[in-house]
Amino acid sequence: MREYNLCVIVIAALIVTQVDRTLATLQCYSCNSTISESGSCLMSPSTENTISCETQCYTQFNAGNLTRGCLESEASCTLPSCSSCTADKCNTNVVCQECLGLEECATTNVTTTGYNALCPENGQVCVNQLNENKTVTRQCGVACAAGTESTCSSCTESLCNVGLYPKNRRQCYTCSGAECNAVTSTSVAGCSQVDAGCFTTGTSTSNMTRGCTSATTGTKCAADSSDPSCLVCNSDFCNSLAYQRDAGSCIICENCAPQQVATEAKSCGEAQYNQTVGCYTMTSGTNVIRGCLNALEAGCSTTNSCTSCSENACNVAASEFKCIECISNEVSGCWSASDPATLPAVSCPNGTCFSGVWNELGVRGCFTSASHLMQYQCTAKVEPHQCITCTESLCNKVAFNGAGPLGQVGVVGLLMGLVIALRSAL
Ligand SMILES: *[C@@H]1O[C@H](CO)[C@@H](O)[C@H](O)[C@H]1NC(C)=O
Ligand SMILES: *[C@@H]1O[C@H](CO)[C@@H](O)[C@H](O)[C@H]1NC(C)=O
Ligand SMILES: *[C@@H]1O[C@H](CO)[C@@H](O)[C@H](O)[C@H]1NC(C)=O
Ligand SMILES: *[C@@H]1O[C@H](CO)[C@@H](O)[C@H](O)[C@H]1NC(C)=O
Ligand SMILES: *[C@@H]1O[C@H](CO)[C@@H](O)[C@H](O)[C@H]1NC(C)=O
Ligand SMILES: *[C@@H]1O[C@H](CO)[C@@H](O)[C@H](O)[C@H]1NC(C)=O
Ligand SMILES: *[C@@H]1O[C@H](CO)[C@@H](O)[C@H](O)[C@H]1NC(C)=O
Repeated sequence: MREYNLCVIVIAALIVTQVDRTLATLQCYSCNSTISESGSCLMSPSTENTISCETQCYTQFNAGNLTRGCLESEASCTLPSCSSCTADKCNTNVVCQECLGLEECATTNVTTTGYNALCPENGQVCVNQLNENKTVTRQCGVACAAGTESTCSSCTESLCNVGLYPKNRRQCYTCSGAECNAVTSTSVAGCSQVDAGCFTTGTSTSNMTRGCTSATTGTKCAADSSDPSCLVCNSDFCNSLAYQRDAGSCIICENCAPQQVATEAKSCGEAQYNQTVGCYTMTSGTNVIRGCLNALEAGCSTTNSCTSCSENACNVAASEFKCIECISNEVSGCWSASDPATLPAVSCPNGTCFSGVWNELGVRGCFTSASHLMQYQCTAKVEPHQCITCTESLCNKVAFNGAGPLGQVGVVGLLMGLVIALRSAL
């Protein structure tokens, strides 16, 4: 009997120790944080205290509150708001931004609480993935594989997958209507295409539209738009010009090749968002014209012998010194020079032009390119050559006396022969 009793006591003791050990061995983190406080229970649970639990640990995320602790046996814990686990210190689940391939997952910073999601398993990390259709998927998952850095980014702390992804995604002012003339930082948005352009278009201060060329809804300008009302630029926040802006001041004059006085610059008025602001100097034949870029419809480029600059009153420099260069048998109008703007011109850095008659041909050019004999005959005013020199740009436009018997165009080749003959004569 005694032996039997002892036996019962031993068995009972064994059961009790067994139960005790089960109760005492599972350690769970026990803490709470609100999302708004970003407390350590959310951000670094492994630094929190643990408690002994009976069977399971849990992590619960509900209306912005995160709680970790022991799951009571009768309590229910189901996804998506609650996750349970049975290993020591297993309730370390993070909270990530979850946004699955919608346009807004790429075009906004995705920071609002509506995107917060509890990761179903501990050990999961936050992942941002660039999809083939250029959208972004943000979610809980496994860390990105090596070699996928250009399309995948992962991080281990709660809510770490916020912000634009990729970080170098194009950002443009995005707005329309009355509030869209003077831009503010609140209207910045990422573009659905990583390398989109930014556009500006509109008809008045109260009807501007700005955005990414990759936008899929509403008024927009394509990246390669030829619509003159569309201004497209290719850097972050570049589409900021107001409908109208002060166009600065420039020298405005015609026939004004020499150096100009900067204080005589005049106002250029207002420029529209799609007009360039700055000053130009344009050579048209023998005429030099200066003015405001916003008043130059054709634009300013080498094809119209135009140079530009961007500061106020910057178009003051004397224009390049040039001479008319022609021989009367080759270039129509060279003999009379009655329409000098139509005659070819060359640069002449030395600043002296000449015109004269040799072998009954009218010759005009830069003095330093004439042969030594011609230079001598010109300087000595040897009579039949009617040669004169002058020192203003494009000044060698005096008509020659007489009809110029060989003065017709078309004796091709004679020019070169003549020049060679004249040059080798001395
Ligand atoms: C949250 O944790 C604090 C101590 O850090 C505790 O006083 C409070 O009761 C906890 N609240 C919940 C809902 O667990
Ligand atoms: C979340 O926590 C705050 C303060 O800790 C509390 O006022 C609120 O009722 C909690 N909400 C839920 C759904 O538990
Ligand atoms: C883009 O691709 C992702 C992933 O394949 C998909 O979830 C999403 O619906 C797609 N979005 C669009 C706008 O096609
Ligand atoms: C969005 O994120 C970008 C960088 O990722 C940052 O420059 C910008 O200020 C953020 N915008 C807002 C409204 O948080
Ligand atoms: C506003 O601008 C758009 C183009 O950007 C144009 O189609 C529309 O007619 C304009 N509305 C008014 C009232 O001018
Ligand atoms: C600017 O846009 C207007 C239409 O809004 C257009 O008529 C004009 O030609 C454009 N100017 C330039 C320089 O493209
Ligand atoms: C002017 O001409 C002389 C001789 O032809 C030459 O040595 C000199 O470099 C020229 N000066 C300029 C500014 O071109």
